[in-house]
Amino acid sequence: MSQPSSDGQRQPAIVILDFGSQYSELIARRVREAEVFSVVLGYTTTAYELYLMAPKGIILSGGPNSVYAEHAPVCDPAIWDLGIPVLGVCYGMQLMVQQLGGVVEAAAGNAEYGKAPLEVDDPADLLINVNSGSTMWMSHGDSVKTLPEGFVRLAHTAKTTEATVAHLQRRFYGVQFHPEVAHSTDGMVLIRNFIHQICGCDPDWTAAAFIDEAVALVREQVGDKRVLLALSGGVDSSTLAFLLKKAIDDQLMCMFIDQGFMRKGEPEFLMDLFDRKLNIHVEYINARKRFLDKLENITDPEDKRKIIGTEFIRVFEEESKRLGPFDYLAQGTLYPDVIESAGTNFDSKTGERVAVKIKSHHNVGGLPKDLQFRLVEPLRSLFKDEVRKVGRSLGLPEEIVCRHPFPGPGLAIRILGEVTDEKLNCLRDVDLIVREEIRDAGLYHDVWQAFAVLLPVRSVGVMGDQRTYAWPIVLRCVSSEDGMTADWSRLPYDLMETISNRIVNEVRGVNRVVLDITSKPPGTIEWE
Ligand code: XMP
Repeated sequence: MSQPSSDGQRQPAIVILDFGSQYSELIARRVREAEVFSVVLGYTTTAYELYLMAPKGIILSGGPNSVYAEHAPVCDPAIWDLGIPVLGVCYGMQLMVQQLGGVVEAAAGNAEYGKAPLEVDDPADLLINVNSGSTMWMSHGDSVKTLPEGFVRLAHTAKTTEATVAHLQRRFYGVQFHPEVAHSTDGMVLIRNFIHQICGCDPDWTAAAFIDEAVALVREQVGDKRVLLALSGGVDSSTLAFLLKKAIDDQLMCMFIDQGFMRKGEPEFLMDLFDRKLNIHVEYINARKRFLDKLENITDPEDKRKIIGTEFIRVFEEESKRLGPFDYLAQGTLYPDVIESAGTNFDSKTGERVAVKIKSHHNVGGLPKDLQFRLVEPLRSLFKDEVRKVGRSLGLPEEIVCRHPFPGPGLAIRILGEVTDEKLNCLRDVDLIVREEIRDAGLYHDVWQAFAVLLPVRSVGVMGDQRTYAWPIVLRCVSSEDGMTADWSRLPYDLMETISNRIVNEVRGVNRVVLDITSKPPGTIEWE
């Protein structure tokens, strides 16, 4: 197991230096899939900082620049004297070659984008079990022209002579392709060879090991102080509740603010599950009326979000004072937030992170100055799929572990125009039908999100002998990897027919169902 640092945090076994590639995070995830703890750091990390961290291997990521361009990002050249194995990926490989005395130049007619079969010349250690002819993903306009002294070629492609190179004694390796992307069929074999065989990392980054370490860390950080957690019912805050319950038991207070915008039966489901079945006490705050009152006559989507956010802070403030005092606020911050959070606030005395936002409800602008808590963020080293593994390992029910994302402001942003009790009730009934039918069709886990949107216009229909004048419902079902881009799901016509029939027949106030077939971009997933 890698050694913990002086503050008890696990030290990374593999450090990925980021040169701006869109795949840097993906490299970290792939390494972790092989059960080795990795982190992404900026390319300006010095050799001395790395020496103190003592990783077993370093991976230099790809990047959009040319190594020979003016102001191209470079790593500290002292890294080459640390005695640590290095794998350079694409730009990372070219940088390695250039810094060690080789030559990189524009690939002229040999730029290579997309899939290319890799011809293995010498597997050495890096390419053991990487099949010659297997597909690797290429994306480069520059190529290595001359290798530095001591380097040999391990593989080539039709267009790239130096597709894999190595200095075997110094354990420096370079690949011109991207082993981390799914299109590279044997990419994971190569990554495992590097981290397990060449760097000697143990596969010890498991959910069980994470839980043991996180529990110990939280106990040490919190001592005998009290911690407040705003539970939303999503997988992050639920996993956090489980972890904290295990770590500090009754020092944890969970609070669930019911704004009135949850799905049908959701508040009851959550309270029943946590409070009664799982024995995690949750303080239920019924704030439905005050949220709805605040939204009267509000139609602008941004105003709506702001009002909900501000009201959430007010309720949070009042209730935490009533139930408190609390020393700590638990937040479900995840690793992607940490990588991107350049503007994080630190308490200059303790070095601890200070809350500026309540993450479980994205739209909460910030806590008032006099209500700043110290933070407990035990999930901050995890990617979303790792949170799911940890949640599962802690015994979180599958129904929560695998649920679709649900926005903080809930159904309020799925009702366009003014939000009223009548529309909320209507949308709740519709939403339940959508979920039931998609689940019954066995497609719940095949889609990223499936939900309904209520539009504030009325159109004419006919039911029996009666003319109707009622709202339309939009079905929004999308597939996505991370919510950043999405495509509309091609659900079977029969299923859509069942959903449509049930909605129009069972829900008063709706006489039409339409389908949203817009991808993101240019559309967004939610309508507001
Ligand atoms: P959009 O609509 O921006 O959504 O394409 C991307 C993903 O984010 C979710 N989403 C939210 N989640 N608070 C949240 O916690 C919000 O205000 C919010 N708005 C959108 C959305 O459901 C999708 O998964």
